[in-house]
Amino acid sequence: MLENALTFSHSLLKNTINQGDLVIDATAGNGHDTLFLAKLVGPEGRVLAFDIQQQAIDNTQTLLSEHNILNTSVIHDGHQHLNKYLSENTLINGAIFNLGYLPGADKKIITNKDSTLAAIKTILPKLANHGLVVLVVYYGHPGGQTELSALLDSVTQLPQQKYAVLQYQFINQVNQPPLVLAIQKK
Ligand SMILES: C[S@@+](CC[C@H](N)C(=O)[O-])C[C@H]1O[C@@H](n2cnc3c(N)ncnc32)[C@H](O)[C@@H]1O
Repeated sequence: MLENALTFSHSLLKNTINQGDLVIDATAGNGHDTLFLAKLVGPEGRVLAFDIQQQAIDNTQTLLSEHNILNTSVIHDGHQHLNKYLSENTLINGAIFNLGYLPGADKKIITNKDSTLAAIKTILPKLANHGLVVLVVYYGHPGGQTELSALLDSVTQLPQQKYAVLQYQFINQVNQPPLVLAIQKK
């Protein structure tokens, strides 16, 4: 069967990320993507996982310790401040954004276009060759469509000589199924 947005996002990362890489989980949430990335890069690699909610930080840390993960820094800060946690010449091999609200928490606390675009703008110049930014965009909630429109406006303008930009979505499903955007540095 065709992969859903989440499994497709993981397949893209699996095909790109290697052991020893530096990767970003821009929206840690309950930590599922963080754990996935931590396993992909292995003990020699490094994951920086960001979230603005204490509940997300706690849930992610709990999940990681249950799996004895030691290569990850879980950072209670917005992804738009990513630069504070990286030295100037550090290259990023991959990043994932899972946009929307934290499942099981306050649905009014959502990712928003300004911080999401700011984080992407920070990551792109630091991407290694063939490095990949994957965004899984949930947009069925209030505010979601605004973020999606801003994102599409922005990523469609990235120069094709420098980046390959992909959109993946089921187009015959009800209830605004999530879509995947992926940006790869050429
Ligand atoms: C859809 S959830 C992420 C789910 C997560 N990937 C998982 O596997 O459980 C979106 C998360 O983004 C977080 N968030 C919202 N704005 C943020 C920002 N500026 N920086 C970092 N995280 C943010 C929310 O607190 C929420 O936990």
